[in-house]
This record gives sequence, structure tokens and C-alpha cells, in this order.
Amino acid sequence: HTAPRKLIAGNWKMNGVGAALAEIEAMAAAAERLSCDLVLCPAFTLIERAAGLVRDTPVRIGAQDCHAQPAGAFTGDISADMLADAGASHVIIGHSERRMAYAEANEQVAAKALAAYRAGLTAIICVGETEAQRDAGRALDIVVAQLSASLPDGATAANTAIAYEPVWAIGTGRVPAEAQIADMHAAMRQHLSARFGMEGGQMRLLYGGSVKAANAADIFAVPHVDGALVGGASLKAADFLGIAAAA
Ligand code: G3P
Repeated sequence: HTAPRKLIAGNWKMNGVGAALAEIEAMAAAAERLSCDLVLCPAFTLIERAAGLVRDTPVRIGAQDCHAQPAGAFTGDISADMLADAGASHVIIGHSERRMAYAEANEQVAAKALAAYRAGLTAIICVGETEAQRDAGRALDIVVAQLSASLPDGATAANTAIAYEPVWAIGTGRVPAEAQIADMHAAMRQHLSARFGMEGGQMRLLYGGSVKAANAADIFAVPHVDGALVGGASLKAADFLGIAAAA
């Protein structure tokens, strides 16, 4: 099994207005020299402009959520087709902040992933345990169960990446021990290979939670870590490119 090119994705969450596009421009200007793939996921309002900025570069643009239905009476929601039309190629689905704030269940995450596939988007599907679940020794079981129920049939290495984000590591500066990341990614790989065969063996498994330039190289050296989903350190080009350089 040859390791795939690493994928470094930035999740801007609810940050950034037009002025922040200068950061994406700076990232795109440096992207040609990198040996990893870069995806930036800004707010919906910036997607079309960001996609225009990166058009002739290797950088890709993603969204942070989509609706499971293709169209209809869903005030305030955004469909996967709308994202593709705006120039997005990726969409984050099932981030723990949405699972918690909007009670998004695994089944809904799987339905959204299917909607993403139908629109030709690559889904970055997020899973991860809470601190209480880890303390109770249930992290592996919880995450594999999330993975199992959050991925629809039809997931492939091309249309899906997985982001393992322990909830207690998000925005806290705390990162799991390398052995904990290794155990989790091995368990996820085993599950994905058993269910999806070769596609599951090649699906990129990202780690997310307090990744920064200073810890990125150690995290990327862990077996079955095929990239990162970065929050805070993706907002500034210098920080994000520092992580990408370690990949
Ligand atoms: O989706 C990425 C995110 O949840 C991680 O955030 O700020 O800890 O890198 P951060």
C-alpha cells in the first residue's frame, strides 16, 4: 500500500470576511512548491470569491456543511449543488461542533455525504470522542461506531476523507499522544478496509485538533495519518503553510 499524498485542510469555522481572502491568496501563491494537497474551507459567503482566487493554482475550496436534500423549503440552508456551483470541490460534514450544536446524528451525516457525492464534491467526514468517552476507555468503540454509521455506501478514496478530531483536542492546545493517534487511525483503517476493500485502504485519514507547525511533523509521522484538518492555525497563511511544509 503506497501512502497517498497528504491532504491539509483548513476549517475557518465562523471566521473571516472579505479582507481575509488575502490569506488564501498568499497560500495559493506558495502552493505550487508544496508536496501536499491544500483545501481551505471558509464561510459560505467567501466560497465563490475564494474559488475565483485559487482557480489557476493547486489549492481547492471547501464548505463546512451542506444540506442532505438537493433543494426545497429549507430556509437558510445550502445544498451541495449550490456549493459546487459556487466553486467548492470539498465539504466538511459532521464536524463535532455541528453534531453538538445542531444534534446532527450519524445518519444525517451519512445522508449529507451522499448529497455531497451526488454533487461531485469530496466529503471530509468528521468523527471523534469526547473526553469523558476517552476516560471511560470507550474512544475506539465510539469512533468506529461513528465511522460505520456516518459513511454511506458508495464512499471511495476519491470522494471521501475522514477527519479524526477528538473533541477535547479541538481549540484546546491539547493533542493526543502519538500512540493514541496511531491506535485510532489503525482502528479506523481496519474498519474501512473491511467495509470498502481497496477504497477503504486508500481513503485519506486526517487528524484534527490543535495541529500547528510545531507539532505537525510528529503527527504526520504517525502511521495512517494522511493529513490534517486544521482550525485556528489555518486562518493565517504563515501558520498554515508551516503545517503544509511539514507534510
Ligand atoms: O476542524 C478543525 C478543528 O476542529 C480543529 O480546530 O483550532 O484545534 O485546530 P483547532
